[in-house]
Amino acid sequence: MLSMMRTPRALHAAGGSGSPLGSAVDSGAACSAFGRPSRGASVSPWLALLLALCAGAAAAVDEVDSLCIDCHRPAQSRGAVPVIEGQHADYLRAQLERFQHRHREGFPMNALSAGLQPEQIETLVQQLSSREWRPAQPATEADVSAGRERLDTLDCSGCHGAGFLGGGSIPRLAGQQTAYLERQILGFSDAERHHPPVGGGVRMYSLDAEDAAAIALALSEMR
Ligand code: HEC
Ligand code: HEC
Repeated sequence: MLSMMRTPRALHAAGGSGSPLGSAVDSGAACSAFGRPSRGASVSPWLALLLALCAGAAAAVDEVDSLCIDCHRPAQSRGAVPVIEGQHADYLRAQLERFQHRHREGFPMNALSAGLQPEQIETLVQQLSSREWRPAQPATEADVSAGRERLDTLDCSGCHGAGFLGGGSIPRLAGQQTAYLERQILGFSDAERHHPPVGGGVRMYSLDAEDAAAIALALSEMR
């Protein structure tokens, strides 16, 4: 898998200007942005992975599971990293390109995508989009009525679909991580990450924290 990602040197030799995650890593610039924990500091698993990549752990560089899914796994205690397996190809491609060109800011994705070649992005997109979507958490008994009501009033399903399964360049939201959704909703602005106006011409950035939390919960509980 990802055979093109196995040989960053061959890519350089062939005139490629960057290796996969590696090139950001090789340049040192991206890695220095992450800093290094002081001795004895506790290191979260994803930071450990990042440091391993930064240290040039070649073995990690040809597996999408260790490259991407170690962070993007469905079961997470904080739910801050989005589910990407089973997300739509056009949407995934657009996001990776935006991270790469810094049209979307999102730690650590700007640095991680910096050195990817278009063919490598396409390989990742095809692999991820062809996988089955695994919802973020098992459904709970949480009261989602407030969020459902906001989703209806604002006609969010008009684009994201009745079941919020998305399609094409519109992302699936059903079963996405709660904390991630909440942060995106609050983070939309015309300047940073753009979202089209919703029902009644409402701008996403006019939603308050209470709306964002209720909507995020209702979406993440959908299957
Ligand atoms: C160190 C952890 C980490 C690793 C490794 C990682 N990601 Fe991410 N990724 C994140 C975080 C955190 C976000 C959310 C960024 C934000 O807040 O916008 C994200 C966001 C994304 C998104 C946007 C999803 C959406 O719903 O908009 C895509 C696509 C993505 N990553 C793809 C990848 C791919 C492909 C790989 C492997 C090459 C990868 N990521 C590796 C942490 C990681
Ligand atoms: C006019 C069509 C449209 C409507 C209506 C709409 N969306 Fe979206 N939404 C989009 C598109 C397109 C994107 C992808 C934006 C991008 O490429 O960054 C998106 C992205 C999102 C994301 C980011 C998902 C991710 O994985 O990062 C969230 C969250 C979201 N929408 C929530 C909502 C909510 C909540 C509503 C109702 C208040 C809504 N959307 C209504 C088109 C729409």
